[in-house]
Amino acid sequence: MNKKRILTGDRPTGKLHIGHYFGSLKKRIEMQESGEYDPYILIADVQALTDNFNNPEKVRKNVREVAIDYLSVGIDPKKTTIYIQSMIPEVAELTVFYSNLVTIARLQRNPTVKTEIAQKRDLFGESVTYGFLGYPVNQAADITAFEGELVPVGEDQLPLIEQAREIVRKFNSIYGDVLVEPKAVLSSEKRIKGLDGNEKMGKSLGNAIYLSDSEEEITKKVMSAVTDPGRIKKDDLGNPDICMVAYYHNLFSTKEELKNVCEECKGGKRGCVACKKQLAKNIIEELKPIREKRSYYEVHIEEVDKILMEGTKKAQAVAKETMKKVKQAMKLDYEI
Ligand code: TRP
Repeated sequence: MNKKRILTGDRPTGKLHIGHYFGSLKKRIEMQESGEYDPYILIADVQALTDNFNNPEKVRKNVREVAIDYLSVGIDPKKTTIYIQSMIPEVAELTVFYSNLVTIARLQRNPTVKTEIAQKRDLFGESVTYGFLGYPVNQAADITAFEGELVPVGEDQLPLIEQAREIVRKFNSIYGDVLVEPKAVLSSEKRIKGLDGNEKMGKSLGNAIYLSDSEEEITKKVMSAVTDPGRIKKDDLGNPDICMVAYYHNLFSTKEELKNVCEECKGGKRGCVACKKQLAKNIIEELKPIREKRSYYEVHIEEVDKILMEGTKKAQAVAKETMKKVKQAMKLDYEI
């Protein structure tokens, strides 16, 4: 029996943080380790350029950073094919073909695209580019070029997967049953909030803990996390429900520890500093193996590049096969 193909990826616009870790990476690794799937993971440099077209250096640099993050968290190149999006020309071709199958109004209604456009006023002003508005089409091409059936992503990506499914249905209804309709797979953890309590953890918000952060950086960041504003002195009675430190204890500490810190906080028996120190220690501990693997790859960059090139070569062959079927269906199968 053929193993189900997994297709997923990230934009290389910065290093990955614990939001990525809980939101999608853990799930991807769990699926990889089950041995039941055939996973592909792309570093979406073309998509990254849609909102960083004026900063190619940044994208180039972060292709490697994201690759190192993947390898450090446990994406295993023997089990998962890691590749660079821009090196698959078929994805660009498919993007053009699919652009006939989606309306501008539909793209403008896509909730993820809408939110992002609002956040990127600095870059786009009042009028967004064709490329950015159309990036969901490019993402549909990413997934379908590899006949991706399952797409493990964070919640914010759901509207993009829905858009891809619509494009697939439209394509198949016009040209014949060629494309595979993908399904999103969510992690059990929902989106992880930032250290400041913001709904989203992100680079531009300055509220993230990166997988690459040093012990000192982690401690410093945890010390700055937002706690119950009504609690000034240690013996004030605290409310862990509105404290980011309690929120992260839930992710990084044992159930027992979580229960203890919350009870002591509510009873005014434990100060925030002690609570934060304990949390920082647990985060440092959990991320330690990732940091250690990272230091290895940082000085063995040639291994990272080799993994990327081997994965990309394998991916190129798969996309070529899909393109043959697509061109045949679209009556574009000329031969010289
Ligand atoms: N949109 C994703 C992000 O913002 C990256 C991405 C590009 C992707 N192509 C994909 C995710 C295909 C899943 C499947 O990080």
